[in-house]
Amino acid sequence: MKIGIDKIGFYAPHLYVDMNKLAEARNVEPEKFTIGIGQEKMAIAPITQDPVTLAANAALGILDDEDKASIDFVIFGTESGIDNSKSAGVYVHRLLGLNPYARNIELKQACYGATAAIQMAKGHVALNPDSKVLVLASDIARYGLHTSGESTQGAGAVALLISAEPKIMALEEHSAYLTDDIMDFWRPIYSDKAFVDGKFSNEQYIVFFQKVWEAYKAKAGLGLADFEAICFHLPYTKMGLKALRTILDQGSEEDQERLLANYKVSTIYNRNVGNIYTGSLYLSLLSLLEQKEDLKDGSRIGLFSYGSGAVGEFFTGILQPDYRNYLNIAHHSNLFESRKEITVSEYERIFEETLPVDGSTVELGIANDPAAICLSGMQDNMRLYVNKLHKTM
Ligand code: HMG
Repeated sequence: MKIGIDKIGFYAPHLYVDMNKLAEARNVEPEKFTIGIGQEKMAIAPITQDPVTLAANAALGILDDEDKASIDFVIFGTESGIDNSKSAGVYVHRLLGLNPYARNIELKQACYGATAAIQMAKGHVALNPDSKVLVLASDIARYGLHTSGESTQGAGAVALLISAEPKIMALEEHSAYLTDDIMDFWRPIYSDKAFVDGKFSNEQYIVFFQKVWEAYKAKAGLGLADFEAICFHLPYTKMGLKALRTILDQGSEEDQERLLANYKVSTIYNRNVGNIYTGSLYLSLLSLLEQKEDLKDGSRIGLFSYGSGAVGEFFTGILQPDYRNYLNIAHHSNLFESRKEITVSEYERIFEETLPVDGSTVELGIANDPAAICLSGMQDNMRLYVNKLHKTM
């Protein structure tokens, strides 16, 4: 039985900052951000969007009534969750009207959370072939204003429906994974901003990639020639390229050209959104699938997942017959086109906005947010959400 990605959806908030303008405001050459880091636009979440609403909006675009009835497991991968106890997925469950006879949990290991979720979903479907699992990968990346990590922030979510006989990509058997206790990036419970040892994190990303790639080759007996493309976790688009370059000499000239060209396509969406942490690898996969029109059915795609702290994994999937018919290309293109640019000072104001932490009541201006699902306020230390389509509170 094949198991894998049946549907894939994406959502980013409607606001962004142009990286050239951020560079100007931070007194650095724009090329540092656009070439050195490889980012054009950075998605900014207004206060009416949080990881719950981003994920719910991503899933809203792909689920039909039959999916909603068959999903019996929701796994929410995030490292910017809103509650230390309750899973963010439980809110999404209600906002989307999913079958209540389902499991629902949140998983955390930095940007690796959604990959762990997909592997768990695969096991669940293997035991329950009629089940569908909704994997949500949703985050808001915050390093702080004027920090060196600032240019690698972002916000967004990817929703993946995992099922038997998937229409988009079947996951293959082999996978290689690695854990090592390192402090390259972390966010203590008391901080809403991440701490990072930037250079060390870059180094470790590459070390993890090389180790899991070698371990994968030994397990699967495959090499670069067997891959049409390799997608990477993309904290910024130059990062995956740095890692890919370290193994390119293992392939022929043709392999190198193909992998580099496809890498470029796999970074288009990420270049325009920024780091969305646990969803970044899957946004890169979506970019490749939606933007490369001649990518053939049957192609093998490699996926490198990295979550600081750190856990890395390399695994693969095969594109299914007519997979392009099951993508949501027009919806995602409309999402990108209808975004609105904000100035650096507007971004700074939004960045500093906070929700009450003293139980007081606040009502947020959701009329200014075009998303269907929004955070509408807070009351008694509870977040209030609204699905404008259903008027669900
Ligand atoms: P920085 O110190 O501001 O930048 O930090 P830099 O001085 O290293 O420059 C960046 C690049 O721009 C360099 O390229 C420069 O040469 C180039 P490189 O040599 O590295 O290829 N550059 C220019 N290029 C063209 N024209 C110019 C120019 N000027 C400079 N004029 C850093 C950069 C990424 C370290 C920082 O932004 C940061 O700390 N970011 C956050 C951490 C991060 O993203 N780490 C990535 C690996 S860890 C990971 O992926 C996990 C993560 O997603 C978290 C999780 O798992 O949850 C982060």
